[in-house]
Amino acid sequence: MTEVKTDGFAHFDVATMAKSDSYKLLASVILPRPIAWVVSRDVEGGLNAAPFSFFNILSADPPLVAIGFSGAPDREGKDTLANIRAWGEFVVNMVPEELAEAMNVTAANAPRGMDETRLAGLELARCEVVDVPRIVGSPVALECKLFQVIEPGGTGTIVMGRIVYVHVRETAFKNLAKLYVDPAQMRLIGRMHGAGGYCTTRDTFSIDRLSWPLAGKD
Ligand SMILES: Cc1cc2nc3c(=O)[nH]c(=O)nc-3n(C[C@H](O)[C@H](O)[C@H](O)COP(=O)(O)O)c2cc1C
Repeated sequence: MTEVKTDGFAHFDVATMAKSDSYKLLASVILPRPIAWVVSRDVEGGLNAAPFSFFNILSADPPLVAIGFSGAPDREGKDTLANIRAWGEFVVNMVPEELAEAMNVTAANAPRGMDETRLAGLELARCEVVDVPRIVGSPVALECKLFQVIEPGGTGTIVMGRIVYVHVRETAFKNLAKLYVDPAQMRLIGRMHGAGGYCTTRDTFSIDRLSWPLAGKD
């Protein structure tokens, strides 16, 4: 039930909301979201690409990413999910501004078996460890092996992948020896609200980390 109280907030009991509304609400307030542009292979070895913004790194040791797949009412399920289950390997490419339109092409619900990497005109390169290619135009590519599939009980499925190899475009580094990356060089995009909202990662600011005891707070 949705309640607007006098405290100036709208309050939502997610358990009783229509699923389409809770999706709309949550995807509009958990912002920005990084986008995993996933290249995967089907059982016959055919390629597939699609973007997923219910995505993040969850652990550095071990290095794990997670992707949330929503159900696909118009078809059996997302091809990427079926491919990852079948092949056990996939590549997460981060999306730069200049490939936003191409990424959007790969989000179309093309028939199973259609190679969306070709549809979007993507240049691919072989990976080191996994037998799935990466997208050359992406400044960052994470080679992943399937770690765990979680079926939490609704229509969604969560895939956790273990990162086994990382590719980063050399110009993304301010200092490669120290692994200092300049995010502005990568020009990655993030997912914002609504059907087609995105943001860039060029508008950033810094805050120094503090140590205890906090200066001036005693
Ligand atoms: C930017 C963007 C982010 C998306 N994020 C997700 C997501 O997190 N989970 C999901 O199930 N679908 C997401 N989608 C929709 C899928 O990309 C879409 O259903 C696609 O057709 C799936 O392709 P596949 O069936 O080839 O795997 C997103 C689409 C876009 C454009």
